[in-house]
Amino acid sequence: MLAVRCQSFGPPEALERVEIDPPVPGPGEVVVDVTAAGVGFVDGLMVQGLYQVKPPLPYFPGSEFAGRIAHIGADVSGWETGQRVMGLAPSGAFADQVRVAAASLIPLPPDLDDHTAAGFFINYATALFGLRDCGHLEAGETVLILGAAGGVGSAAVAVAKAMDARVIAAASTETKREAALAAGADVAVDYSQQDWREALKAEIRETGLQMVYDPVGGDAAEPALRSLSPGGRYLVVGFASGTIPRIGLNLALLKRCSIVGVDWGGASRADPSLNGPLMTTLLQWVASGRLSPAPVSTRPMAEVGAALSDQLSGRTVGKLVLCN
Ligand SMILES: NC(=O)c1ccc[n+]([C@@H]2O[C@H](COP(=O)([O-])OP(=O)(O)OC[C@H]3O[C@@H](n4cnc5c(N)ncnc54)[C@H](OP(=O)(O)O)[C@@H]3O)[C@@H](O)[C@H]2O)c1
Repeated sequence: MLAVRCQSFGPPEALERVEIDPPVPGPGEVVVDVTAAGVGFVDGLMVQGLYQVKPPLPYFPGSEFAGRIAHIGADVSGWETGQRVMGLAPSGAFADQVRVAAASLIPLPPDLDDHTAAGFFINYATALFGLRDCGHLEAGETVLILGAAGGVGSAAVAVAKAMDARVIAAASTETKREAALAAGADVAVDYSQQDWREALKAEIRETGLQMVYDPVGGDAAEPALRSLSPGGRYLVVGFASGTIPRIGLNLALLKRCSIVGVDWGGASRADPSLNGPLMTTLLQWVASGRLSPAPVSTRPMAEVGAALSDQLSGRTVGKLVLCN
């Protein structure tokens, strides 16, 4: 079977698709025919050796997928070959097949297509964990989502709308703002403009701003934080801009706001029981029509290098998904 391999840390274009032996499931495991695999910003950092965790080389990237069960190992019950599933893999999901613990799989509901499902787990779990559990978002509150057309941002738009919040999307291009509106945002602002805070002020004049969801960092962070109403919450989610903002803590005092770190990965490693209820809620919301997942951006698996490179330079719109 074909699998994407990172032989040495470097630009994504150096990734190779190589023929390797197909995986064989051990006890408690299944092998899944991967139809689609989700790509996160972290994947692009990791193949360059720029992420805080450096896997031993060579490694096989890809950590979320959708597909069909191909083979079932010993001591596995409740699953059938051919069954549609989604899940997380420690590595190796950018491949024709991936081997995972059966207990980590989720049956794919009929209302989720494979492409959407492949990019669903990490970003939607992060959004619900961040907005609800870390930020305590209430219905009717106004939330500003930075990088709102990215994978993490577009999921937050959809989940915030499912929570009956008013969503202001910040994105840098017309195409991205249209994508954020298509994902459910109520309004969109161009935060690449110097005076973007004036446009934001006009949008929050009547409602105030109760929350910021920030997977971007960089220059947008301080104006966003300064725009919060008293009691507001600033959710620190990521730093896709490459710059970690340095903000005086006096601002938290002056704005009477909270700055809250959202680390879904760390929280779910510390408490493996976190994700079951998150995914149950999210998939129930999809089934009932309360949550409409944002459109994703698909590329063939063969274009993995160019796709990761495009994502790292902010050229992708929506969650990036690689398809077999
Ligand atoms: N805290 C958590 O639990 C958690 C979970 C998952 C991911 N994350 C983090 O969330 C961040 C976003 O990940 P993602 O998968 O959503 O990435 P993505 O799909 O590439 O989206 C990132 C967005 O950031 C904006 N951006 C601003 N400056 C950029 C730059 N120099 N290069 C690239 N993008 C830039 C872009 O929007 P504009 O062009 O509109 O500015 C882009 O759409 C990453 O830092 C990731 O590590 C955190």
